[in-house]
Amino acid sequence: MGRILAVANQKGGVAKTTTVASLCAALAERGRKALAVDLDPQASLTYSVGLEPDDLQPTIHDALLERVAVEETIRGVEEGFDLVPANIDLAGAETYLLGRTGREYALRETLEGLTDRYELTVIDCPPSLGVLTINALTAADDVLVPLQCEALSHRGVGQLLATIDDVKRFTNRRLRILGLLPTMFDGRTRHAREVLDGVGERYGLPVLPPIRKSIRFAEAPASGVSILGFAPRHPGAEAYRALAEELVR
Ligand SMILES: Nc1ncnc2c1ncn2[C@@H]1O[C@H](COP(=O)(O)OP(=O)(O)O)[C@@H](O)[C@H]1O
Ligand SMILES: [Mg+2]
Repeated sequence: MGRILAVANQKGGVAKTTTVASLCAALAERGRKALAVDLDPQASLTYSVGLEPDDLQPTIHDALLERVAVEETIRGVEEGFDLVPANIDLAGAETYLLGRTGREYALRETLEGLTDRYELTVIDCPPSLGVLTINALTAADDVLVPLQCEALSHRGVGQLLATIDDVKRFTNRRLRILGLLPTMFDGRTRHAREVLDGVGERYGLPVLPPIRKSIRFAEAPASGVSILGFAPRHPGAEAYRALAEELVR
C-alpha cells in the first residue's frame, strides 16, 4: 500500500499528463484506489479531468504552503480516481520553496499520511528539472520516464538521469527508475523502431511496451476523460490498462 510513482521528463509534450490520467483511470476501472497529483503550474491534468483550474481553490499550492491540509484539496473525478489539483498559483510555490530550508521535502511531507490510503499515487511533473520535479522525485518510490521516439533528445534523457542520480544520493535513496515509456510510437517508421531499440541499451534501462500514436489521445482531454473513457476499446486504452496492471501486480 501507499506506493508513489512520479512521471517525469523535463521535455514538454512527451505524454506525461496523458500517462498519469490514463494510468489512474485504468486503476480505477479495476476497482483500485488511485490518487493523481498535479504538480504542473500549467494544470493540464486538472483541466483534462474536466475541472476548470482557474476557478479552483484550494489546490496543491495551498497545501505546499501549509495553508490547508492536503485532504481539503482532493477532488473525486468522473473516472473514479482522486485528484490533488493545481492551477497557475503553483508557479509561486517554486519561489516560496526556493527560500525554504528542506525545500526538497515539502511534497513528501504534504503527502504523508494521505498516500497510505491509496494503492498508487501518481505525480504529474512539470516540464522542467526545477524544485517541483525534485520534490516529486524525493517523494516517490519509483519514476517512470515517458519519451517520444521520433523527437527523442538523448541529451535531455541524460540530464534527467543525472538529476535522478542526485536525488538518490541526497534526498531519496529508495528511488527506482521503473523504465522508459515510449509514447506516440509510430511502428511503421524504421526510425521509431531504431530509436526504441537503441535507447534502452544506451541508458541501461528497461523499455516498457510502447504506446502507439493516435489522434484519439489528443481528442480525449477536451471531453474531461482519458482515452479509457473516451475510446474504451482503443489499442491506446488497452496499452495503458496493461501498464497499470504491471504496476500493481
Ligand atoms: N499516444 C499518443 N498519440 C498521439 N498523441 C498523444 C499521445 N499521447 C499524448 N498525446 C497528445 O500529445 C500532447 C502532449 O501530451 P501531454 O500528455 O500533455 O504531454 P506532457 O504532459 O508531457 O507535456 C497532448 O495533446 C496529448 O493529447
Ligand atoms: Mg503535462
